[in-house]
Amino acid sequence: MASPDRFLLAAVMGWPIFQSRSPMLHNFWFAQHRLAGSYLPLAIPPERLEAALRALPALNFSGCNLTIPLKQDAMRIVDDVDITAKKIGAISCVVVRKDGSLAGFNNDWYGFTHNILEFVPDWRADHGPVVVIGAGGGARAVLYGLLERGAREIRLCNRTLARAQTLAQEFGSPVHAVPWQQRHDALEDAAMLVNTTSQGMIGQPPLDLNLDRLPKSALVNDIVYIPKETPLLAAARARGNRSVTGLGMLLHQGVPAWKAWFGIEPKVTTELRARIEATL
Ligand SMILES: NC(=O)c1ccc[n+]([C@@H]2O[C@H](COP(=O)([O-])OP(=O)(O)OC[C@H]3O[C@@H](n4cnc5c(N)ncnc54)[C@H](OP(=O)(O)O)[C@@H]3O)[C@@H](O)[C@H]2O)c1
Repeated sequence: MASPDRFLLAAVMGWPIFQSRSPMLHNFWFAQHRLAGSYLPLAIPPERLEAALRALPALNFSGCNLTIPLKQDAMRIVDDVDITAKKIGAISCVVVRKDGSLAGFNNDWYGFTHNILEFVPDWRADHGPVVVIGAGGGARAVLYGLLERGAREIRLCNRTLARAQTLAQEFGSPVHAVPWQQRHDALEDAAMLVNTTSQGMIGQPPLDLNLDRLPKSALVNDIVYIPKETPLLAAARARGNRSVTGLGMLLHQGVPAWKAWFGIEPKVTTELRARIEATL
């Protein structure tokens, strides 16, 4: 539990770090809860990650988040890795324990599922095939979240087939690797489509995916959140599919982090969302 006489500190470490909206998110919650504290963006190259993480206890940090490209490297640095983070294969959140040791967690999957549930409260991952595009770090958390919600068939399609095959092997039988050339056909009879590639992000070309085969009833989600509405989501909306933007994945993953760092459960409110969306 956060002590009122302590200045609370947390951070996000990444390389580079300039587009992160995490400081805005966490500093909003400090202000909302009237707590003295700060959340800092720290640009840390991979070769300095160990020194940076080990410095957290001495600097009185409660913990930190990790972003590209540090989520996997942190696995071999922290003292304990939670079972879910082990299954996902990445750490998104580090907690400094009372004895100064470091525990690693992954809250991205929680952010993914709670974002979908915020907009589609009756969402079920077992209502039909789910197509996931991309097989990087974000995809790992999405796959875990989908399986945790009972998904029975996941068609995993990545430009580099071998990466999709590795994930299919790791995550088990509901996940099938689909060659990139078959991505349009994979949309046939899908109940949900999730983009986890970097395509559609600001500065990147749109995701090369034709939605003609996707049923109009399918839910479409993009975990890319800059811009707020990616070309994929705009195309889905234009043809009548329900869509969920990616920002909420970032917002919701902050909730378990706060619980672990400060013993407080903050809320993802429309005011918070609007404040951050205005900057995207
Ligand atoms: N909303 C959130 O909270 C949240 C959380 C995590 C990530 N994200 C976003 O998700 C995106 C991916 O992040 P990540 O950590 O998963 O990155 P990553 O591990 O580097 O993976 C990138 C993925 O994009 C694919 N890709 C890259 N260029 C491509 C292209 N030209 N055509 C097709 N596929 C391409 C890669 O395919 P190959 O394997 O073939 O290279 C790989 O599957 C980023 O925009 C990130 O900001 C959002």
